[in-house]
Amino acid sequence: MPALRSAQWYSGDNRNAYIHRAWMRRGLPGDAFDGRPHIAIANTASDLTPCNAHLDEVARSVANGVHEAGGIPLDLPVMSLGETQVRPTAMLWRNLAAMATEEMLRANPIDGVVLLGGCDKTIPALLMAACSVDLPAVVVPGGPMLTGTFRGVPLGCGTDVWKLSEEVRAGTLSERAFLDSESSMIRSRGHCNTMGTASTMGLLAEVLGMTLPGIAGIPAADSRLLAAAHATGVLAVGLVDRERRPSTVLTKASFENAIVALAALGGSTNAVVHLLAIAGRAGVELTLDDFDRVGAAVPLLADLQPAGRFLMEDLHRAGGLHAVLAEVSDLLDPAALTVTGRPLLAELAEAAVWDREVIRPRAQPLRPAAGIAVLRGNLAPAGAVIKPAAASPHLLRHRGPAVVFDSVEDLHARLDDPGLDITADSVIVLRGCGPKGYPGMPEVSNTPIPAKLLALGVRDMVRVCDGRMSGTAYGTVVLHVAPEAAAGGPLARVRTGDMIVLDVEARTLHCEADLDAREPSPAFLAALAAPRRGWERLYVDTVLQADTGADLDFLVGASGDRVARESH
Ligand code: FES
Repeated sequence: MPALRSAQWYSGDNRNAYIHRAWMRRGLPGDAFDGRPHIAIANTASDLTPCNAHLDEVARSVANGVHEAGGIPLDLPVMSLGETQVRPTAMLWRNLAAMATEEMLRANPIDGVVLLGGCDKTIPALLMAACSVDLPAVVVPGGPMLTGTFRGVPLGCGTDVWKLSEEVRAGTLSERAFLDSESSMIRSRGHCNTMGTASTMGLLAEVLGMTLPGIAGIPAADSRLLAAAHATGVLAVGLVDRERRPSTVLTKASFENAIVALAALGGSTNAVVHLLAIAGRAGVELTLDDFDRVGAAVPLLADLQPAGRFLMEDLHRAGGLHAVLAEVSDLLDPAALTVTGRPLLAELAEAAVWDREVIRPRAQPLRPAAGIAVLRGNLAPAGAVIKPAAASPHLLRHRGPAVVFDSVEDLHARLDDPGLDITADSVIVLRGCGPKGYPGMPEVSNTPIPAKLLALGVRDMVRVCDGRMSGTAYGTVVLHVAPEAAAGGPLARVRTGDMIVLDVEARTLHCEADLDAREPSPAFLAALAAPRRGWERLYVDTVLQADTGADLDFLVGASGDRVARESH
């Protein structure tokens, strides 16, 4: 066992070591300070993050494993983010959760950490923190919930909320039936059961090599999750012994494998900003263009909502992540390792597919090319993304007049106005939704379809926005436009009636107007001038654009696990 970091608090006969030990002697065994690794369990359980509420039980299993391996488990509650609860948007707080977790890991006598997350932002924030402090670290994804049913039909949480609410607006479903479905939507503990952001990031944590192999995607209510948590506790002690840190696991190869998996799984577009941010913390040079270069041609093999039919419980039953990865193993970089020290590819030897409806063979994909497409043009000089697999094929090449909205509130106020001049060919442009503009880059880009067009049977239109889209959503939506309107991007100078040209095959997004010759609309600028204080002010002043991960500029990179000076 190498010299422990925690020994810098606990070893010795001096007064300061006495203080550190004495206050911790509440229930710890007498030999707790004699060379046993101290493992933090960074736990995002919270009643206000219902997707993570079960993580206290998971933490107990981790703690048992740490004990069994000779370590000392220490509960470290960290900032949690409930996607459905937190206003104005959980993304505003991802970087704060990452910063707070990083600082508390560094400030405390910790030798290694087990990261417990689930709901959308929690695993990205924990991984960002772990990379910046670079202590031996391993993730336990909290797992998806079991499948609920309504009137005999499985409900995909998120995806079916959008679908059912649109049916109400279209007049094809009663409000009563819609509200009746509410109690069936969330069947059990765990995060959303579609291939949304939480499912995506839990699975990608494993592809990155940051979990015990084979555990991502185990449903939260499945007893195998607790067994996996126990085994992860054992592993965490071993990671300290071997000094295996995120910097020794995460490489460009790990991230490129994650991009392949993102496409094959039909994962969330939010993974783009999260992977870029994690890579930024890890010092790995990942770019927006890598997503297109590595992932665009990868086939979609997992038939999961929102792109397909099934849910996360089905994926696990059908063979899980490893079965999907085995189908595209030739596209994975064999150099990438996992926290076990073994290559990711070596973990796939036993993979098998038990249901070919859920996990398609490579030769019969759900879509032949399912990755993220990166668009550029005079509307998005630094890039924008679209997920062609979630879009309508007939709209992937489209020219239509812009209908511009300056904010989400503006959109909601005018979209259903019968007098709004909008047709199925129009392009809805929603701005003021980027990291600085909203602030926090909310999931609003998949705007509703205007009610009068819904009534005509229109279910998709081209939409262009500097915000994000829920991983459970679908549609022909151009997202993450950078630079955003509030940062001076050209989106701020588009006017209603300008012709917008989208060509996904050519990877272009253009406005036919001379945007350079214009000033942004005064009304749009006025809405940005709100006074700010506290975190929101720090965030708006320092947040980077979506094309590099929307981290704060001073948080990119790492400070390592240096031990600060003593104050006693
Ligand atoms: Fe928590 Fe969907 S709301 S994962």
